[in-house]
Amino acid sequence: MHPLFRRKVSSYTATMKQHRKNNQNLSVFIVVFSVFLFGFFMYSEDVKSIAEFPFSSAPKIDHQNVVEIDSRTTIVVESKTTSTSTHMIELPHDQDHADAVDDDNDDEEEIELPPEDCNLYDGKWVYDDVTHPLYKEDECEFLTAQVTCMRNGRKNSMYQNWRWQPKACNLPKFKAKLLLEKLRNKRLMFVGDSLNRNQWESMVCFAQSIIPPGRKSLTKTGSLSIFRIEDYNATVEFYWAPFLVESNSDDPTMHSILNRIIMPGSIKKHGKNWKNVDYLVFNTYIWWMNTFSMKVLRGSFDKGDTEYEEVERPVAYAKVLKTWAKWVDKYIDPNRTTVFFSSMSPLHIKSLDWNNPDGIKCAKEISPILNTSMPLNVGTDWRLFRVATDVITSMKLPIHFLNITSLSEYRKDAHTSVHTIRQGKMLTPEQQADPNTYADCIHWCLPGLPDTWNEFLYTRIISRS
Ligand SMILES: *[C@@H]1O[C@H](CO)[C@@H](O)[C@H](O)[C@H]1NC(C)=O
Ligand SMILES: *[C@@H]1O[C@H](CO)[C@@H](O)[C@H](O)[C@H]1NC(C)=O
Ligand SMILES: *[C@@H]1O[C@H](CO)[C@@H](O)[C@H](O)[C@H]1NC(C)=O
Ligand SMILES: *[C@@H]1O[C@H](CO)[C@@H](O)[C@H](O)[C@H]1NC(C)=O
Repeated sequence: MHPLFRRKVSSYTATMKQHRKNNQNLSVFIVVFSVFLFGFFMYSEDVKSIAEFPFSSAPKIDHQNVVEIDSRTTIVVESKTTSTSTHMIELPHDQDHADAVDDDNDDEEEIELPPEDCNLYDGKWVYDDVTHPLYKEDECEFLTAQVTCMRNGRKNSMYQNWRWQPKACNLPKFKAKLLLEKLRNKRLMFVGDSLNRNQWESMVCFAQSIIPPGRKSLTKTGSLSIFRIEDYNATVEFYWAPFLVESNSDDPTMHSILNRIIMPGSIKKHGKNWKNVDYLVFNTYIWWMNTFSMKVLRGSFDKGDTEYEEVERPVAYAKVLKTWAKWVDKYIDPNRTTVFFSSMSPLHIKSLDWNNPDGIKCAKEISPILNTSMPLNVGTDWRLFRVATDVITSMKLPIHFLNITSLSEYRKDAHTSVHTIRQGKMLTPEQQADPNTYADCIHWCLPGLPDTWNEFLYTRIISRS
């Protein structure tokens, strides 16, 4: 982390204290606020504004157009200055996996599972247009306009063709039928913010691919969206709770609230909707990133209380996750339910973070960051990652930690950018031509990166007998 950042934050000592408006606090606030002003704001469907903090300290190297992936693969990326970029790619087909294509009908085929102790998250991105994408944009009617980047005018579809290759083992081949067999008579539920919804949409596409029309349906009631697969009596659900605990941002549609306030000790109202689910996947991150501190309600929304105190982000995050952990340990039956927690989904809002002086946020990126020895800092708040792993390891119930942050940081090419909607409407050509203002470098195209997150989930689900 940049020293400037550390200094500013550590001088901000509002931890669990009421924010008093005396001069000292005011000057601290002004310092923080002026740092804040250095950033610019990102607009998107669900995240009204995200401060971008100019603290990235990645060392400068000359921008290179030729990147060596490994000894046998070279990718040449040639960006023109016009908005449509062209590329030349010289990529040998991945021989190891070329024969793993064809036979989705072959039910007999054995699926090789990775060893239990293999670290799936340590690996690299491999270009593989034979096995990826795992489904086609046009063949998943349930995708929302927020994520259908090609339909929304994106020219380059290479972002769909990258496969995650763990270092020490292989991810099992994806088979919808096997997944559905595991989900028979079961409920799978994603709980969290719009990034978890992004992943849920991907999982719906995974699950629906072999189900004929009329035997599947999507219904939305309040905070809960349910995708139902009749023939398997299975559901894939999404529950909107961007902070997991109760907050003033819990309305599933009207949640563009700038003054976000949470009740870090209050989770039962949401939690009652998570009972009797077989697979639970939690996340919370992006809604924390607007401000340095979190507003914590004194009292209860139900009683009409409005006073709050400001708490440093990691401190409030820890309080929330401890509340969540207590709830999980108390109400989840480990004999029935498997619980996952997703680490943070990263943003790509400053192209200098990956040494591209000609970039505009993530808007011109057509390939992942492939040089994994380059130190990378895209502004992720790793303090929260640490909080999450600490809380999870202290729990009674075993939690499967989806360690997606690092591997997703390489995917600057995979965001929806200007090929998306904003406040329910497709971006106009004029807006698309202004990525500085309108590019969404938070959410991800589908098919795309969240499919990989689901490959991890799939691996765990099919690994349990
Ligand atoms: C998460 O994965 C990264 C590699 O992608 C690894 O360096 C790190 O140790 C992992 N952390 C945890 C807590 O598993
Ligand atoms: C269908 O799934 C639900 C939810 O998982 C389960 O409670 C119910 O028992 C299942 N029905 C049958 C007939 O198995
Ligand atoms: C889970 O199952 C085991 C073995 O059947 C049983 O001993 C244990 O009490 C169960 N745990 C809970 C929380 O129900
Ligand atoms: C990868 O990054 C490292 C560290 O910045 C640098 O020394 C190396 O030359 C880079 N490799 C390529 C192929 O760009």
